Amino acid sequence: MVDIHCHILPALDDGAQTLDEAVAMVRLAAESGTTDIVATPHANSQFSFHPEQIDEAIEMLRKASRNVLRIHRGCDFHLTYENLQDALLHPTKYTINHGRYILVEFSVAHVAKAMDDALYRLRAAGMTPIITHPERNLFLQRHLERIRSWVEDGWPVQVTAQSFLGRFGESAKLFAEELMKQGLVHFAASDAHDLSDRTPRLSEAYACVAQNYGEAQAERVFVANPKATLNGERLSLKTQTANQRSKKWFCFK
Ligand SMILES: [Fe+2]
Repeated sequence: MVDIHCHILPALDDGAQTLDEAVAMVRLAAESGTTDIVATPHANSQFSFHPEQIDEAIEMLRKASRNVLRIHRGCDFHLTYENLQDALLHPTKYTINHGRYILVEFSVAHVAKAMDDALYRLRAAGMTPIITHPERNLFLQRHLERIRSWVEDGWPVQVTAQSFLGRFGESAKLFAEELMKQGLVHFAASDAHDLSDRTPRLSEAYACVAQNYGEAQAERVFVANPKATLNGERLSLKTQTANQRSKKWFCFK
């Protein structure tokens, strides 16, 4: 599996706090079947984003974890005015492996219409925004049509893997399921922060998605699409409906 959203670099944000913890997270991910992690420190009002620091931290973590998996560069990019201006000036500063894809996070309570303009401006500068965890966003939970229109405009959607297991509550779980059913999920990623609660283990969520939507859907959102982002390849965003099983099903963490 390829995990495109993970706060695994030590002491850069609210993710791993020490090198030991980061190494343990890498090992846990590798043991559960992850081959590649995109390290995505926050860029928001609380944590600033310094590319050189991030490159150094990646190198340090690669060595300390003896390259048990590949670590790539990315960012959890909060769509603020200041961040947008900086990204427009430096289009590959925040993108995955300096390619086209950029993880974009909105504020939890409201997503202003002006955000659509911001997404278009990122695209005009050569970036493809990936909408991160809309299922956890209280505003977007009530505006599925907004997400559909983003996908139709060419912007893929990343759901947090543990949402399928109920980690973020019933409403996030139900919304993640609805997005899956409607073919509006293109990635599942850990958004891991630690070793005990929000971990980088993807195997349970993969099994849950495979059980309920079929192996092909799980492969698509945990493996094929994430892999394509590493090299900046284009994705097919056709909103085909997921292969939903008719029986009632549940996933437990
Ligand atoms: Fe994140």
